[in-house]
Amino acid sequence: MTTPVPITVARGDGIGPEIMDATLKILNAAGAKLKIEEIEVGESVYKRGISTGIEDSAWASVKRTGVILKAPITTPQGGGYKSLNVTFRKTLGLFANVRQCVSYAPFVETKHPKMDMVIVRENEEDLYSGIEYQRTEDVMVGLKVITRQGCEKIIRYAFEYAKGNGRKKVTCMSKDNIMKMCDGLFHKVFDEIKTEYPDIATDHYIIDIGAARIAARPQDFDVIVTENLYGDIISDIAAEITGSVGLGGSSNIGPTVAMFEAVHGSAPDIAGKGIANPSGLVLAAIMMLTHIGQNDVATKIHNAWLKTIEDGIHTGDIYREGGNSKRKVGTDEFTAAVIANLGQKPAKMPAVDYGTGGKPAIKIAVSAPRAVVAKKLTGVDVYVNSNDTVADNIAQQVTPHLPAGYTIKMITNRGMKCWPGAQPDTSVSALWALRVVANDGVTADPATLAKFYTALAGSALDICTFESLFHYDGKQGYTAAQGE
Ligand code: NAI
Repeated sequence: MTTPVPITVARGDGIGPEIMDATLKILNAAGAKLKIEEIEVGESVYKRGISTGIEDSAWASVKRTGVILKAPITTPQGGGYKSLNVTFRKTLGLFANVRQCVSYAPFVETKHPKMDMVIVRENEEDLYSGIEYQRTEDVMVGLKVITRQGCEKIIRYAFEYAKGNGRKKVTCMSKDNIMKMCDGLFHKVFDEIKTEYPDIATDHYIIDIGAARIAARPQDFDVIVTENLYGDIISDIAAEITGSVGLGGSSNIGPTVAMFEAVHGSAPDIAGKGIANPSGLVLAAIMMLTHIGQNDVATKIHNAWLKTIEDGIHTGDIYREGGNSKRKVGTDEFTAAVIANLGQKPAKMPAVDYGTGGKPAIKIAVSAPRAVVAKKLTGVDVYVNSNDTVADNIAQQVTPHLPAGYTIKMITNRGMKCWPGAQPDTSVSALWALRVVANDGVTADPATLAKFYTALAGSALDICTFESLFHYDGKQGYTAAQGE
């Protein structure tokens, strides 16, 4: 007799409570041994003025159980509310978001009958760091944060996942032709780690053509590893082209906690109508069952679910008149059909068998931050807010404050070089960056620059920020400007 495993359940917002209700009914009917602790998160908590969407008591449950089954949550627009999904992932170190996207052709209509891909999405950094600044009235800036340790963790996880699940290929997607430093690091770490897995084929796509290929030829992909934002976008594309975004389940894996959820959001447009497809959350719950070692129950539910799909019992998002759909059902009827099929297997689609017991959890060692061998300050980018559209005028205002031995190397606007040698057609914003460097090109003195900052702060110029420029082991630690 299995001892019930404690899990934390969040019913979420929009269609969340309906699909969670359906999922829990199926888990219960299949004999899952769970000790459920429910927590309240999301809209109702935000409305009580808690900007994180979660109370301390709920964190205690999550830390106690280490397993969360979560329905989608609505993040209120504006008002300083932080996405609870991002908070969960970052607070609990849920670095890997694993999203499996499978076709169920011909039973679920899709143009891509042969797809079975897993997207391993980095979950803690990238543009989801949420570090944004208003630099001028009209200019917003967001920071993309990529760390070597973050890349190593997710890329190694993707390879370990592929190895442990009999997958043959890992594809990396990035945009390193444009973001040479951030995405360049991701691609470089992929190239380093792939050599440790000689039995697994690898390739790399620039994310734009990669996303296009996923939409056109998804059968070419096996495991894809990518950064946070790209992963978010391509996993919705991949889930949608299987037939419906409502079919995608996902897991968020961290060192001590794992969270299981549907790929889709809270679907406010259909909330309360009883028509939502619970499959995404059901498939996430199946992932959860294998995580906690109740593989026999996972097998039973997955096969019953496949049979229901094969029988043509379809919710509105996948129901197609005249196709392989037989009966259009709501959430409750679909749930009842899955429960009625427990113990049965699909006749035409391959049945699933998760074996017995759980797989050992994938443990990823993280390398320590590397020691800096030689770091040299070479200058500073001074960001100035000015509605003057002529870069030379701004250069003239800064020049009197320049310390001896320093020059303005160039002025850029939105990353485009505008001075010297402005192009008349280059459009400019009010945020100007003046690259001030020591004349010998390598050594700048922090004390001298500090005096320069003070002088500028006391001038009539509207200074937004200073960005120090460093060389690491002789290599430039900042990008060149477009047109430099
Ligand atoms: P969405 O995924 O909620 O909906 C997109 C479209 O797909 C809608 O037409 C919806 O009706 C349909 N759809 C989604 N799930 C379905 C299901 N199970 N059955 C049938 N149809 C389904 O995306 P949207 O509208 O961009 O986001 C709505 C809210 O969800 C936002 O507040 C967003 O922040 C939140 N969200 C939450 C997520 C989470 O909790 N993990 C993930 C994504 C969005």
